[in-house]
Amino acid sequence: MTTKLLIFGITGDLSRRKLIPALERITQAGTYDDLEIIGVSRREVDESMLIRDSGLASRTSIVTMDLSKAEDYERLKTAVNLSEDDQLLIYLSVPPAASGQIVQLLGQAGFNDDRVKIMLEKPFGTDLESAKRMAEQINAWFDDEQVYRIDHYLAKEMAQNIVAFRAHNALFAHVWDNSAIEKIEIHAYESIDIEGRAQFYEQTGALRDLVQGHLMQLLSLVIMDIPGDMHWSQVSTHRLNALQSLQSADMRTTVRAQYDGYQDDVQNPGSTTETFVSVRLESDAPKWTGVPFYLTTGKALDQKLTEIKVYFKKFHDAQTNCLIFRIQPEVGIEIALNTLKPDYEYEYEETHLSFGYPADVVLPDAYEQVIVDAIRGHKHIFTSNAEVIRSWEILQPLVSHWSMCEACNHTYAKGSTAEQVLADAPRPHEND
Ligand code: BG6
Repeated sequence: MTTKLLIFGITGDLSRRKLIPALERITQAGTYDDLEIIGVSRREVDESMLIRDSGLASRTSIVTMDLSKAEDYERLKTAVNLSEDDQLLIYLSVPPAASGQIVQLLGQAGFNDDRVKIMLEKPFGTDLESAKRMAEQINAWFDDEQVYRIDHYLAKEMAQNIVAFRAHNALFAHVWDNSAIEKIEIHAYESIDIEGRAQFYEQTGALRDLVQGHLMQLLSLVIMDIPGDMHWSQVSTHRLNALQSLQSADMRTTVRAQYDGYQDDVQNPGSTTETFVSVRLESDAPKWTGVPFYLTTGKALDQKLTEIKVYFKKFHDAQTNCLIFRIQPEVGIEIALNTLKPDYEYEYEETHLSFGYPADVVLPDAYEQVIVDAIRGHKHIFTSNAEVIRSWEILQPLVSHWSMCEACNHTYAKGSTAEQVLADAPRPHEND
């Protein structure tokens, strides 16, 4: 079966930074020699500027069209020229406001038969209602089986390894509940600021940008049930069950802050958009009651670090208790251990048992994984509509409260550590 990949927004930032390099690596590996790429652009482009790699140049064509004109989609259909045993992946790398109309025009032009998969980039709505509307718009033309919602955090190497680690190591399966676990923290710290994405970020903020998708997905991988006979194809259902067990987020235990200088960056004095957020969640599942989950993310912090820390209950203070899934920049798993110091004194020292990849192993980039899994129809690294809606339901109390609240931002200096922000930021309603 030949795969044709139709990319809307081929000249855009994501395409340049992520998709084209990922496609270069996939085709260089020789796995998909017959992959054809058709880029859609609103303006004439110099293909040679866009596609540097000769391997891609020979398999890429560009169609220039007006994205709002139905007749241009007919022309596009002719250019794609799908035969009976081809499959077509349609990648929408366009602003969310544009995707609804494109999906509709694609559907009207008959692009929605069962040889077609449609790949969508976040954001999937900006709140619960808009997410439901977006789903309705898409499902009016495409069956949900055909829809591949990308969450590139799910495609990161260590994210998938969480499932493998939990499923295939008896030691941890025995202690993966509230009898042994005290709390779980998920951190996604970024040293970059909003990097000029003022319009996008003003409508988004840290909660929508990182927590609603990426961090909720990571949490669900950590707390979902993993039956002994689980197949990868069932992972999405188990993630959904985990999300369904979570209680709604609570303002009283949420911390929200903005880096100093953000309002100048977005030229909006008085903006209340948060660039840092820490949400505490809890589950109603009997095995997780009493275990708090902290999801924390922020821009303009002191470092780029994504990790999941699982803290075990201690029997006494002189014990270590932390297991870390390192997602980036280092990739691996680490356990802190107390061991005897190698001398005559019978003293202890903290050492680390760790798993990492050898320096010569090149891990696939998340976007490579996304494209390959979409070609193969492996849906477990994509987010289902039900997961998207459930995540919004959990976070909606915060979204609703913040839309009415003008003055709930605390400011932090660029380069702060997350711990500093958390220590300084007020928890506005903790004692209500
Ligand atoms: C994106 C967000 O989804 O993820 C960005 O929109 C963020 O704001 C980025 O910087 C982080 O991705 P990564 O893979 O660099 O951690």
